[in-house]
Amino acid sequence: MGLEPAMCNRGKSLLLLSTTTTLLVFFFSSLPLATCSVSYDHRAIIVNGQRRILISGSIHYPRSTPEMWPDLIQKAKDGGLDVIQTYVFWNGHEPSPGKYYFENRYDLVRFIKLVQQAGLYVNLRIGPYVCAEWNFGGFPVWLKYIPGISFRTDNGPFKAAMAGFTTKIVEMMKAESLFESQGGPIILSQIENEYGPVEWEIGAPGKAYTEWAANLAVGLGTGVPWVMCKQDDAPDPIINTCNGFYCEWFTPNQPYKPKMWTEAWTGWYTEFGGPVPHRPAEDLAFSVARFIQKGGAFINYYMYHGGTNFGRTAGGPFIATSYDYDAPLDEYGLLRQPKWGHLKDLHRAIKMCEPALVSGDPTVTSLGNNQESYVYKSKSGACAAFLANYDTNSFAKVEFDGMHYNLPPWSISILPDCKNTVFNTARVGVQTTQMTMLPLQSDGLSWVSYNEETASYEDDSITTVGLLEQINVTRDVTDYLWYMTAVTIGPDEEFLKNGNYPVLSVLSAGHALHVFINGELSGSVYGSLENPRLTFTGNVKLMAGSNKISLLSIAVGLPNVGTHFETWNAGVLGPVMLNGLNEGRRDLSWQKWSYKIGLKGEALQLHSLSGSSSVEWVEGPLVAQKQLLTWYKTIFNAPSGEDALALDMGTMGKGQIWINDQSIGRYWPAYKASGSCGDCSYSGEYSEKKCQSNCGEASQRWYHVPRSWLKPTGNLLVVFEEWGGDPTGISLVRRTVGSVCADVSEWQPTLKNWHIKAYGRPERPLRPKAHLSCAPGQKISSIKFASFGTPQGVCGNFWEGSCHAHKSYDAFEKENLLQNCIGQEWCSVTVAAEVFGGDPCPNTMKKLSVEAICQ
Ligand code: GAL
Repeated sequence: MGLEPAMCNRGKSLLLLSTTTTLLVFFFSSLPLATCSVSYDHRAIIVNGQRRILISGSIHYPRSTPEMWPDLIQKAKDGGLDVIQTYVFWNGHEPSPGKYYFENRYDLVRFIKLVQQAGLYVNLRIGPYVCAEWNFGGFPVWLKYIPGISFRTDNGPFKAAMAGFTTKIVEMMKAESLFESQGGPIILSQIENEYGPVEWEIGAPGKAYTEWAANLAVGLGTGVPWVMCKQDDAPDPIINTCNGFYCEWFTPNQPYKPKMWTEAWTGWYTEFGGPVPHRPAEDLAFSVARFIQKGGAFINYYMYHGGTNFGRTAGGPFIATSYDYDAPLDEYGLLRQPKWGHLKDLHRAIKMCEPALVSGDPTVTSLGNNQESYVYKSKSGACAAFLANYDTNSFAKVEFDGMHYNLPPWSISILPDCKNTVFNTARVGVQTTQMTMLPLQSDGLSWVSYNEETASYEDDSITTVGLLEQINVTRDVTDYLWYMTAVTIGPDEEFLKNGNYPVLSVLSAGHALHVFINGELSGSVYGSLENPRLTFTGNVKLMAGSNKISLLSIAVGLPNVGTHFETWNAGVLGPVMLNGLNEGRRDLSWQKWSYKIGLKGEALQLHSLSGSSSVEWVEGPLVAQKQLLTWYKTIFNAPSGEDALALDMGTMGKGQIWINDQSIGRYWPAYKASGSCGDCSYSGEYSEKKCQSNCGEASQRWYHVPRSWLKPTGNLLVVFEEWGGDPTGISLVRRTVGSVCADVSEWQPTLKNWHIKAYGRPERPLRPKAHLSCAPGQKISSIKFASFGTPQGVCGNFWEGSCHAHKSYDAFEKENLLQNCIGQEWCSVTVAAEVFGGDPCPNTMKKLSVEAICQ
């Protein structure tokens, strides 16, 4: 029933309404008078007079390409979303003070207009602090170097800069008539981001800053409401909102504000060194249904499409290049099933309840120890009910309004007419899809290599006494900074005779470090997101005379969260010590050090079309293998077709990738995921460590190559490898559906007494169907598993239980049967005993689990 955004007339006089419970938000400073409006009350967001429960999803425009945007937005709309939420990324838009960039992936206006064209609304989170696992939380690095600045507090220089950028964005939106008050799609804006915890920590200046930020926002006169997330004291008329895995407990700070959930986390981010988090669709749906059941008026999925941290945009440190987030649309923009479809079904159910939901407060009744009903009724007779079972282990049979309902553990049933269950959060009706990465049929890539040099003093280096903080020196134009010094060893040093080499110890604030002695690698160390600091300790082969110590310090994304995260250091801050000399210990920290910013290959722009031909590359058998600090280059043709593409970097260590001058991002498959991966039940409270995969494997092996970055032929692929890897193992793969699964119970859970009452007989049992559908152009090639009975496991890993119908496979595979699936793009099979050759275990609850291979 999804309502299209109502477009409104401009230029007419403003309608001012006021009721005790409705707070209208009009700021008309520089706006043309319009009949459009967005307001709110305790039960709804009111858009042009329509009372709405809005479903929103985050898609961050620079995390995909403009070519992907229309498809992502359409899939969001098809998934039942009303609103697209995005942050605005200051450091992408203002790379240097006053120099703005709004093109390509940063074309914010184009993105918003595409959302508008699709008929959806926009929730614009201007911030301009955004967190978001984005480099420096979205702040430009130059901001840190404004004299006297202190971030996110009552600080003049900071407030001036923040006001400048926020105003710039608002004016830009107004100039394009993008606010709903002007007939545009933006219905809500956000100022700041999760400032509450910081304010709590820093006290009075924090409070003053909150007031200031609120005034700034409201004073900009957008004509649409502002929100502040995780900010309990958000001043009127700003709405305070909730972020988290669950938010049903949340109440806004005034009774006339709607209950809004700005970040319902669909999964979690991946860090290099960490496993990949997954959030079960059943639990996500449960949390959303529970929020709506308890009076929620707005819910936003963070992320609906996570996408990719291209280039050096990943924050952290140690945030991976993939920002897949286990979102309903995967990193490549493909449907993640069953999550996307299950949420779509949930949204349809919520929309059916909308007239009753927006009408008032629910009646809550206990149905058991851990069970409740929430009933919403409108004056015009609409009735919607939510039946909840919070028990994490047991099904619950509950009686509601004279009828019996069977509720799976940790689930909510939605009854848009207070009678029929149209959706239960734990019953997934859509198929599960397993994606695979298929190597493309090609002769393999042929590589040439170029050795990066260990820096030397002759270069244009900076020399000073003592150790410098890395970001102060690089201003983050590169991940790399060389620290170089010399150590003179006298001919009478004992170790020269006995071979007990001295021990060098280097303390660094992070994030990774290679130690070279006289040009030879001595060792490499790196930190983690939890602890970016690191210490190198190792025996070093020094010679009599002057020795050169070169430390290559590497940043892996700047922090994006934490009070005054801008003060966090990176690089070799020392001490740097040499132990085991005749004199005992020598402190190198306060001697003369030389610094070189970046790599030679970066200065030569080896990743670019022009720069890559400026040096001589090594070809044929001499191409470097397993050698650190090496540039690799190859030319390849684009594979035909439309499939999403990725680079398999499994045989490589750590570095960066570019295609046709565009940066794919940092790669680090050598960093294996440590953590616990294991069985995961949807039931019970979720946390980001609960359902993880990839333990012991690369945190990220595949790297998205956007199709639009490729030409049909002659694409330049450049890889800089820091650690030492085997480039012959790099391959281009396509992401496609590998197999599809259905898991369907044979019987309908609802015992519909009202049907008996009304019709004098039980309702004819609904016969559920298993639907299997490969991607367009694919066919079902075989049935990997089929069992009607009591099968166990999950898609990709099913096994037979004690009860199994021997003709389970026949229903899918046998020719001449109506249901034959082999060779079809899709098929469906009725889940009933007779289809599988009779009931294998009468009086037992049975289900069908099936996995079909797609090719
Ligand atoms: C929130 C923050 C988001 C994002 C998220 C974790 O606290 O507002 O920007 O960082 O955490 O993915």
